[in-house]
Amino acid sequence: MNRQGLTRRQFLEKTSAGLAAASVVPSRPTGGRTGNPNALALHGGTPVRTKPFPSWPQTSDLDEANILKSLRNHRWCTFDGEFIPKFEKAWADVVGTRGCVMTPCGTHALHTALEILEIGPGDEVLVSPFTYIATIDAIMLSYALPVFVDSDVRTFQLDPDDLEHRISEHTRAILPVHILGAPAHMDKILAIAQKHHLPVIEDACQGHLAEWRGKKLGSLGTVGCFSFQESKVLPGGEAGALVSNDQDLIAKAYVFRDFGHDPKRDGHYATRGTKYRISDFAAAVLMAQLTRLESVCATREKHAAYLREELKKIPGVMPQEHYPESTRQNYYFFGLRYNPEHFSGVPRERLMAALQAEGIPVSSIYPPLNKEPFIEQSLNSRGFRAVFSKERLAKYREQNHCPHNDELCATSLSLSHETLLGTKQDVEDIVEAMAKVHANAAMV
Ligand SMILES: Cc1ncc(COP(=O)(O)O)c(C=O)c1O
Repeated sequence: MNRQGLTRRQFLEKTSAGLAAASVVPSRPTGGRTGNPNALALHGGTPVRTKPFPSWPQTSDLDEANILKSLRNHRWCTFDGEFIPKFEKAWADVVGTRGCVMTPCGTHALHTALEILEIGPGDEVLVSPFTYIATIDAIMLSYALPVFVDSDVRTFQLDPDDLEHRISEHTRAILPVHILGAPAHMDKILAIAQKHHLPVIEDACQGHLAEWRGKKLGSLGTVGCFSFQESKVLPGGEAGALVSNDQDLIAKAYVFRDFGHDPKRDGHYATRGTKYRISDFAAAVLMAQLTRLESVCATREKHAAYLREELKKIPGVMPQEHYPESTRQNYYFFGLRYNPEHFSGVPRERLMAALQAEGIPVSSIYPPLNKEPFIEQSLNSRGFRAVFSKERLAKYREQNHCPHNDELCATSLSLSHETLLGTKQDVEDIVEAMAKVHANAAMV
């Protein structure tokens, strides 16, 4: 039941599908509150909800106890922290890899991955343009070129069928991003990687607990990278981790994280490195969060499954699709695409404003990163010009087109995962708001 006392079916009949038949005439914009539940909140109608969605991150007594324990035992750094090795072992067990090395954040896990695989100046890395900026920054900070593979608009993932033709003599790795907590097409990506002898770096920064054919993301490629930043489904403030089944790479990551310090010769430096060590406090919180991860994810997944089915019934709303081999998604964000043709041509930004006015926190997702100014700025920088010839940079610019990704960026929307952590009524509200805006689209 919604707050107007109608069942959802009755509500939908009165709004989108049954609008004409039921002769429910959407009210005109009035400029003030009408108290009319059928009028858009954007124009003064009663919003579908005013109650906030659950907040994030959430904590329990255990988070506090762990933080206090870490504080009081005065072992706060990477050398002696109690919780860091505990979390590294626990996360490797969850993901199903032989090793796990904590880093200060996911960006540094990605940078470490590139470093230990010896990817650097002059190299090319195949990557999805539909990602958070960190993925691309990690590549460019290594003075390598991110070669953008077009997106699959249905799944929001790197299109595996656009991958192989972008491989060149300079390609050194494939870096798929499991976007919004759903798996990229790992079968096709791994097959191409194997054929061309390329390592695969999984950006699983959003992909905690998600699975491809029953295997956890992060465990399928050469290395996997995670973020435990506060917004993530496993939050630890600011933290990250690199996982791998290759013990040699794990050992290299430990050395790189600690200035290249030689583990066999104290006080000596075996390799170039940096300081990507971390504080024990983040690991203390993560150990507590880990105990709740499965149950919180189960709630989110249950609500997401319902939301997906209900939203699909509204014309012009297309939830992110998942490949059949994708056995689990974590819904870090619930993604959808929007076709304005079914909403009287209302532009996406206006749709978002209408939904936000109804109390639903929707937002756009990513801009087309391959077209953002930082790309040209980097290519024109002294460092890149020293590494890459004019001809290579000209060719790069010429080939840097991802038309499907442009479409995806322009038509996609997301709901953050908190919206799925409350009650079924919360999810009903999201559907009700979308149906209401759809029914009133001519007025938006
Ligand atoms: C896809 C992706 N990659 C990398 C990162 C970087 O992680 P962090 O913020 O922990 O550096 C994020 C974080 O939001 C991300 O979403």
